[in-house]
Amino acid sequence: MKITKVGVVGCGLMGSGIAQVTAQADFDTTVVEVSDEALRAGLDRIDAFLARGIERGKVTVQQKEQTLGRIKGTTDLASLGDRDLVIEAVSENLDLKRRTFARLDEVLRPNALLASNTSSLSITEMAAATRHPERFVGLHFFNPVPLMKLVEVIHTARTRPGAADAMAEFACRLGKTPIRTSDRTGFIVNRLLVPYQLDAVRALEEGVASIADIDNGMKLGCGHPMGPLTLNDFVGIDTLLHIAHIMFDEFHERRFAPPPLVKRMVMAGLLGRKCGRGFYDYSRNPPHPNDFLVAR
Ligand code: CAA
Repeated sequence: MKITKVGVVGCGLMGSGIAQVTAQADFDTTVVEVSDEALRAGLDRIDAFLARGIERGKVTVQQKEQTLGRIKGTTDLASLGDRDLVIEAVSENLDLKRRTFARLDEVLRPNALLASNTSSLSITEMAAATRHPERFVGLHFFNPVPLMKLVEVIHTARTRPGAADAMAEFACRLGKTPIRTSDRTGFIVNRLLVPYQLDAVRALEEGVASIADIDNGMKLGCGHPMGPLTLNDFVGIDTLLHIAHIMFDEFHERRFAPPPLVKRMVMAGLLGRKCGRGFYDYSRNPPHPNDFLVAR
């Protein structure tokens, strides 16, 4: 089926990025949030990203206006009834996602496609909350969505093959590269990335090296754009802990077990870049490693 109208549920960090890239790729986009405040914050994030794009010479004033003009914000989920594809990007909470999909299932046409941007929850379990699991796929974007080129396309045992093909084609139309995977917790990227992120914390806990040296090791030794502890701050320490719990519950393997320091940081409110403090102190320029996290 031809996709022209896209809905995005959730206008947080991921949802706003997804709405931005669909609108930039010419799709008529409707984004839904729970409150006017949350919607405003999400639309402002898109506006600010495009404004920075203009400063960097990557986006023209006209492109910014056209992109914003293709996005309609609402707090009414029922207004997604005319969409060809709806992508869910609400918080990583299975009950919330299942409730959202059960509602969407009532509102959408039977041939519309449904996708979740979950990074680690089961696509099959969400699809089971709907009457049409054959139209359900995972469509996992990466943060920051407008800059990261990858999209994981996930099919379940019930997804009709044409739906996954249509999603891979859709990802290409967004200028992304799709990779295909079956519904296994963490899919491809987080299955490999999360143990690495957690191992960097274990190395720090065990006194292998300092925060700055662990990060420089992987940046300069392996060409990664950011070191693993900087990446942890970027993803959010609470998000990392949440994903690690989900993956550990699924596999019961030590590599997915959250290290004590990650739990302590969440309890202490050191959540990473979003709150200005995590493995680094972002009130300083350049950010300064919080070496007090591990006693020497
Ligand atoms: N509009 C348009 N273009 C922009 C832009 C904007 N607002 N901001 C930046 N750019 C462009 C820049 O112009 C630059 O383009 P060129 O390469 O053509 O010069 C490019 O984007 C990179 O920008 P910067 O040089 O400012 O920044 P950087 O080089 O430090 O890259 C980054 C930033 C892309 C975030 C990079 O650090 C990176 O790739 N980090 C790793 C991110 C990552 O691993 N994400 C995955 C997280 S895990 C996840 O998401 C999964 C999950 O389930 C939790």
